[in-house]
Amino acid sequence: MTNILLTGGAGYIGSHTYVALVAAGYRPIILDDYSNSHPGVLARLEEITGKPVLHVRGSVADVGLVSALVDEHKVQAVIHFAGFKAVGESVAEPLKYFDNNITGMLRLMQAMDQANCRALVFSSSATVYGDPASVPITEAFPLRHTSPYGYSKIVCEEMIAAMLAAKPAWRAGVLRYFNPVGAHPSGLIGESPQGVPNNLMPYVAQVATGKRAQLNIWGADYPTPDGTGVRDYIHVMDLAEGHVAALDALLKTESSFTVNLGTGQGHSVLEVVRAFSLACGHAVPYEICARRPGDIAQCYADPALAQRLLGWRAQRTLADMCVDTWRWQSRNPEGYS
Ligand SMILES: NC(=O)c1ccc[n+]([C@@H]2O[C@H](COP(=O)([O-])OP(=O)(O)OC[C@H]3O[C@@H](n4cnc5c(N)ncnc54)[C@H](O)[C@@H]3O)[C@@H](O)[C@H]2O)c1
Repeated sequence: MTNILLTGGAGYIGSHTYVALVAAGYRPIILDDYSNSHPGVLARLEEITGKPVLHVRGSVADVGLVSALVDEHKVQAVIHFAGFKAVGESVAEPLKYFDNNITGMLRLMQAMDQANCRALVFSSSATVYGDPASVPITEAFPLRHTSPYGYSKIVCEEMIAAMLAAKPAWRAGVLRYFNPVGAHPSGLIGESPQGVPNNLMPYVAQVATGKRAQLNIWGADYPTPDGTGVRDYIHVMDLAEGHVAALDALLKTESSFTVNLGTGQGHSVLEVVRAFSLACGHAVPYEICARRPGDIAQCYADPALAQRLLGWRAQRTLADMCVDTWRWQSRNPEGYS
C-alpha cells in the first residue's frame, strides 16, 4: 500500500480525491483543521469506500505534527489541498491568505523535508493566469495575480520551482484547476459552502432548492456567444482522477510537471442555468444585472499537456455535472450539518 497524505482532505476537492485514490489502490490519510469543512464527511467517505478513514485533526502549519505523521505512516507523497480559496475574502483580508496559503505551504515543505518525503502535488488554480490575452489557455501563458488569493498561488508555485531547482531530490506536480463543480454520483459527498456560495454552480443549486430566491447574472454584454461569462467547468470526479494520474506520474517517472486540469470547453452562465433546469426538472429564476468589477469574459483551458504527460482527460459532460450537483444538493440541502 502506498500511503498518501491529503492536507485539506476533508474539503470539497480533497474528499472526492480521497475516493478516487482508494479506488486506485492508494491509502490516503486526511489531515484537516475543519476551518472550511465538516467532520461529517468522514462517515460518508467510509460509506462510499467501505473502508475506515484514516484522519487527523490539525493544521498543515504544525511542522511537528506533519513530520510525525509522514514518518509514522511512511507517507510517499503529499497532496496539498489545504488553504483558503475565496477571492473576495482574500481582498478583504490579504494577511489571512498569505498566512494560511503561503506560510502553510512553507511549513508543510519543512515538515516533508524533515521526514524525507519529497514528492508533492499542489492545488493551484487558473486564477494564476489573471485576465488572459486569449483562450484556450496553455501552461506557457504569463502568470499575473488579480487578487491576494491569486498572489498566494503564484508564490507557492514559485516556491516549488525554486525548491526543485535547488534540491534535485524533490518532485512536484502543480495542477492548475479550472472550475471544479459537481459531486460524487452517490449523492453522499459534494460541495458544502459555508454562508453564501462564491461560485456559480452551488449558488444555482441553492436557488433550485428554494434556499435562495434567484440567481443574479453579472453581465450579459460580454463578447461571448450569449453575452454571459464563459468558464471551463470540470466535474470534480474528473479532477479527482486527474490527481490519481498526477500521483502515478510523480511516483513512477520521478519527473516534475505543471499542468492545466480543465475540459478545454467553455460554457456560459446561461448554458449552465439551462442544463441545471433540465437536471432538476424546473426553471431556475435569474435576473441579468450589471457586470461585476474584476470579472473576465472567458476562461478555458488547453488541456493537451495533461493528456500528453499524464494520459488523463476529462470525461464527464455539463449535464453530468448538473445532475450530480442536484442529487447531492437535493438530498443534503444543509450540507453535512
Ligand atoms: N474549488 C475551487 O474552485 C478551486 C479552484 C482552484 C483551486 N482550488 C484550490 O484547491 C484546494 C482545495 O479547494 P476546495 O474547493 O476543496 O476547498 P475547501 O475549502 O473545500 O477545502 C480546503 C480544506 O482545507 C482545510 N484547511 C484550510 N486550512 C487548513 C490548514 N491550515 N490546515 C489544515 N487544513 C486546512 C479546510 O478545512 C478544508 O477542508 C485549495 O487550495 C484551493 O485554493 C480550488
